Amino acid sequence: MPLPPKVRLVEVGPRDGLQNEKQPIDVAHKVALVDELTNSGLEYIEVGSFVSPKWVPQMAGSSEVFAGITRKPGVTYAALTPNMKGLDAAIAAGVKEVAVFAAASESFSQRNINCSIAESLERFVPMFETAQKHDIRVRGYVSCVLGCPYEGDIAAEQVAYVSRELYAMGCYEISLGDTIGVGTAGKTRRLLDIVGRDVPRDRLAGHFHDTYGQALANVYASLLEGITVFDASVAGLGGCPYAKGATGNVSTEDVLYLMQGLGIETGVNLERLVSAGQRISDVLGRQNGSNVARAILAASK
Ligand code: HMG
Ligand code: MG
Repeated sequence: MPLPPKVRLVEVGPRDGLQNEKQPIDVAHKVALVDELTNSGLEYIEVGSFVSPKWVPQMAGSSEVFAGITRKPGVTYAALTPNMKGLDAAIAAGVKEVAVFAAASESFSQRNINCSIAESLERFVPMFETAQKHDIRVRGYVSCVLGCPYEGDIAAEQVAYVSRELYAMGCYEISLGDTIGVGTAGKTRRLLDIVGRDVPRDRLAGHFHDTYGQALANVYASLLEGITVFDASVAGLGGCPYAKGATGNVSTEDVLYLMQGLGIETGVNLERLVSAGQRISDVLGRQNGSNVARAILAASK
C-alpha cells in the first residue's frame, strides 16, 4: 500500500504514561504537560482516566486535570473509562470523548478490569447509550493483541473478534494495543491482515509499547498496511500497571521524526514536543525515554 500523506498522532502520555509512575504527580504538573502538548500542535490528547483510584492511584486527580487545562478548539481531550461510574465522572468533567478498553486475553481482562472479556463487553452496552445521548464519541482499545503477560501468544482471530464486537457496538476507532511490546513487524502485518478483514483499516489505530525496542518498526509495518493513526507517549513515558516489566509506549518524538523522514504530515512541532517531554522527565526525575529527544537535546548543548 502507498504511504499516506498524513497521519494522526494520539498522545497518550498523560494517561498511559503517567498512570504507571511510582511517585505522586501533582495536578499542576499534569495540567502543564497537557497544555504544552496542546501547544506542540497535537490534535488528540488522552488526558487521564476515570478508573478506581484503588487500582490506579495516579489517575485519581483526572477531574481536576480536566478542569485545569486550556482547551484549544479542534483538539480532542479524551479520557479512559472502564464502566458507567467512570463515564458519569467523565461527563461531569466536561469530557467529549472517552475510550473503553477490553483485552484479547481472558487472563489480562481479569487482572486489568476484574471481569471476563464477555462481561466487559456487556458492561459497555449502557455506556454507549449514555455516550450517544451526550454526544460523546467512544474509542475502543484492545489489549494484548500481539501477546499477553499471562498467556503468551494470542490468536489474531481472537483480536479480530474483540475488535469487531467493539466496532459493532459503536466505537468509531479501535486501537490495537501491544501492551507488553513483544510484537515484531512481521507479526504486526499478519495481525492487521486478519483484523482488517473485520474492521476497516481506516478505523484501526496502532498502540505499541516499546519493551523489546520494536515499536517504531511496528509503526512502520502498520503504515505499510494502511494504518494512519498511531498512539504514542511523549518522552516514552509509561508502562502498564497490570503488565509487569512492560515499558512505555513508543515515544511521540520518535514517531514524529519517522513521519518527517517519510514526508508524512502530522501537524506537530518537534521542538515544542521535545521541550514538553524533557520538562515532564525532569519533574519525574527520570531519563527522557525518546531517542530523538535525547539526540536533539544533546546536540543543542
Ligand atoms: P472492581 O473492584 O471489580 O469494581 O473493579 P466494582 O464495581 O466492584 O467497584 C469496586 C470499588 O471501586 C467501589 O468502591 C467502586 O465505587 C469503585 P468502594 O465501594 O470499594 O469504595 N469504582 C470506581 N471508582 C472510580 N472510578 C470508577 C470506578 N468503578 C468502580 N470508574 C474496575 C473494576 C474496572 C473499576 C477496576 O478494575 C479498574 O478501575 N480498573 C482499571 C485498570 C486500569 O486503569 N488499567 C490501566 C489502563 S488500561 C491500559 O493501560 C491498556 C491500554 O493502554 C492499551 C494497551 O496498552 O494494551 C489502554
Ligand atoms: Mg497502553
